[in-house]
Amino acid sequence: MNEDMTDKALMLRDVSKTFSEGGCMIEVIRQVSLKFSSGKWYTIYGPSGSGKTTLLNIIGGIERPDAGSVLFGDTDIYAMNDEKLSRWRNVRIGFVFQFFNLISELDVEKNISLPIKIYNLKQDRKWISAVIDILRIGNLLKRKTSTLSGGEKQRVAIARAVINRPDFILADEPTGNLDSDNSANVISLMKRLHDESGVGIILATHEKELIETGECRFKLSDGKIREKGE
Ligand SMILES: Nc1ncnc2c1ncn2[C@@H]1O[C@H](COP(=O)(O)OP(=O)(O)O)[C@@H](O)[C@H]1O
Ligand SMILES: [Mg+2]
Repeated sequence: MNEDMTDKALMLRDVSKTFSEGGCMIEVIRQVSLKFSSGKWYTIYGPSGSGKTTLLNIIGGIERPDAGSVLFGDTDIYAMNDEKLSRWRNVRIGFVFQFFNLISELDVEKNISLPIKIYNLKQDRKWISAVIDILRIGNLLKRKTSTLSGGEKQRVAIARAVINRPDFILADEPTGNLDSDNSANVISLMKRLHDESGVGIILATHEKELIETGECRFKLSDGKIREKGE
């Protein structure tokens, strides 16, 4: 369990981000204000290049916005120093990526316990075995991740993302590299994890079929969010 009882909502306030590309300025995110309550599943939908990765990186403390702020409870995350921010990220947020980002030379067990090792956090053994059970990776623990299928890799990556019991999983195109069977499987396991642990999920995708997965759905276009309803 996390140590304090503060409101764990994540809030974007008038967030903007501009990149310059070959002398041209591209305003990728334009004054976006959004609230992500803990324990809910949000889907952010938009075509390739619409700014989904940029938005997730801003939410997760990886990419500083040019204007506006990101609040976790009452804390402005970008007002923290780098060390505090990276600790916050490690404890509160779990990232899941399209290309899994596992360490191929290490076995599954070592990959999933890495976030605990880095900050020397306490292991919650009951939680770890629940995660291994829900994601059905118990038979893979001693395998090097380079030997796993795509679906297996993503289940391991999700286990690694939740091992510290984060408040939110930020999943960037988590099924973008999976066939439809594995994609459905990964989504249903994420759903079970969400239902059983109450972890909030913010999933970005360009796949129309996945829009329905969220309790709250947002569409990103022209740097703006348009709500699609609950
Ligand atoms: N570090 C960067 N430098 C310059 N342009 C970038 C950078 N990151 C993203 N962009 C641009 O921002 C836009 C949105 O990118 P991205 O957030 O990756 O969208 P999506 O994830 O929806 O495909 C694209 O036009 C991309 O080229
Ligand atoms: Mg992207």
